[in-house]
Amino acid sequence: MHYLTKTTAADNLASQCLILGIFEGRQPGSTLGELNARAASAIKAALKKGDMTGKSGQTLMLYAVDGIEAERVMLIGLGKKKSMTAKSLTSAVENAVAQLNENAARDCAMVLPPELDTASAVYAAVRSIVLAAESRLYRFDQCKSKKDRPPKPLGRMTLVTGSRRMANTVRKALAHGQAIASGMNLARDLANLPGNICTPSYLASQAKKLGNKSAKMKVSALTEKQMERLGMGALLSVSNGSREPARLIVMEYRGGPTNNRPLVLVGKGLTFDAGGISLKSSANMDEMKYDMCGGASVIGTLQACAELELPINLVGIVPASENLPDGAANKPGDIVTSMAGLTIEILNTDAEGRLILCDALTYAERFKPAAVVDVATLTGACVVALGHHTTGLLANDDKLAEELFQAGEAINDPCWRLPMNDDYRKQLDSNFADLANIGGKGAGAITAACFLGAFTEKYKWAHLDIAGTGWKHGDKGATGRPVPLLMQMLLARCKLVE
Ligand code: BES
Ligand code: MN
Ligand code: ZN
Repeated sequence: MHYLTKTTAADNLASQCLILGIFEGRQPGSTLGELNARAASAIKAALKKGDMTGKSGQTLMLYAVDGIEAERVMLIGLGKKKSMTAKSLTSAVENAVAQLNENAARDCAMVLPPELDTASAVYAAVRSIVLAAESRLYRFDQCKSKKDRPPKPLGRMTLVTGSRRMANTVRKALAHGQAIASGMNLARDLANLPGNICTPSYLASQAKKLGNKSAKMKVSALTEKQMERLGMGALLSVSNGSREPARLIVMEYRGGPTNNRPLVLVGKGLTFDAGGISLKSSANMDEMKYDMCGGASVIGTLQACAELELPINLVGIVPASENLPDGAANKPGDIVTSMAGLTIEILNTDAEGRLILCDALTYAERFKPAAVVDVATLTGACVVALGHHTTGLLANDDKLAEELFQAGEAINDPCWRLPMNDDYRKQLDSNFADLANIGGKGAGAITAACFLGAFTEKYKWAHLDIAGTGWKHGDKGATGRPVPLLMQMLLARCKLVE
């Protein structure tokens, strides 16, 4: 969708639909002050009929409203005035956009509630409006031969602010929102594609496309031969069981001063996880095409960062592989040697994410990272602990953990820290190797992080377990998370958020 900003009076605006927010208790807030007297009393009269109270998510469509130039007026409920949040705005805008996309209106103009009276409030609101609209308009029909598209889709949204002072803030928030949304959409597309199309090589080719689009980004993908030479025995042991060759995708974005250490993002790119010889049960196994959501979010974040030309150095690393059972696959009890030299006893071949990630995390050392954040659909245990709303956060550095937590809060893409210490680490002790790839009963999300922690001692590191948040389980659709969280972190590091 295209976005514009205008400071013209809302009642004079030629548009197919003017969107006005109403607070709970039929409170039009100060919005009506922006309209002429005839329009204001027409809307008050409509509210009196009682068809909407202003609860978050409610909508009411009015036609030919006296004193208003727009063809329609859509009242949207914003919830309680005191507690207007990104969340309440999100559900209101999602509902409005869904309706407008299905009806005949092709453009709309949304009046920003004057209650948003600081630059940071306007910034946050506008950005969440864009994110909400784009997420509602997203559809994945690449693999359908007949596309079921609305006949008159919504194509344009104008954000109307009464204050010229805010126009620049609105513009900035629109740009950030759109870049984050395209990054999320790319992540969702890659993740929604099935395993037979989105293979490790496909992921590599899509990443390379981004490299060709941006002068500041260089993309390469190591082959299995190159990984062998580096001694990536853990990663390669996973792809041994599959006919699709593994790739290690490396995306280098240089937007900051040359000698600034980069932030490195590492994303699990398991394009299909059948479990290997420790085969998964067949119920919902199709959803294991989403086991590359972490990698997809890293690719999406690099795209968004390049689109905004952020003044930062950022590296994305995506180890990509399948995990399938065949005669060359890992067997329980096998011992492999990682690039770091640590030997690993593979007690469960379904704990493969950590095997491909550990070599990628060792590879990350060569970039002399300021910090490393990995993103992975790593454990079912994380879903048990935090469900589908909150991403698991584990880290070897308190400041980095706090930075990620705050970023999640600021952009409504939350994560929550779990503890990590030696008591958990001991669960990985192995009789025959330096460490085992599973930690026995209890605390599966934590022991998985402890495993990764053994390979990240040389830098500041955080791990995001998105097993519950990367896609909608059962509903079958990737979410694009945690692209917003990562982008918020980058924007904050660049001091670009209000
Ligand atoms: N990709 C899965 C984790 C997963 C499972 C994510 C279900 C989302 C939903 C991972 O590779 C895996 O299989 N983990 C095992 C680890 C276990 C064998 C220690 C798990 O969580 O069951
Ligand atoms: Mn697995
Ligand atoms: Zn997996």
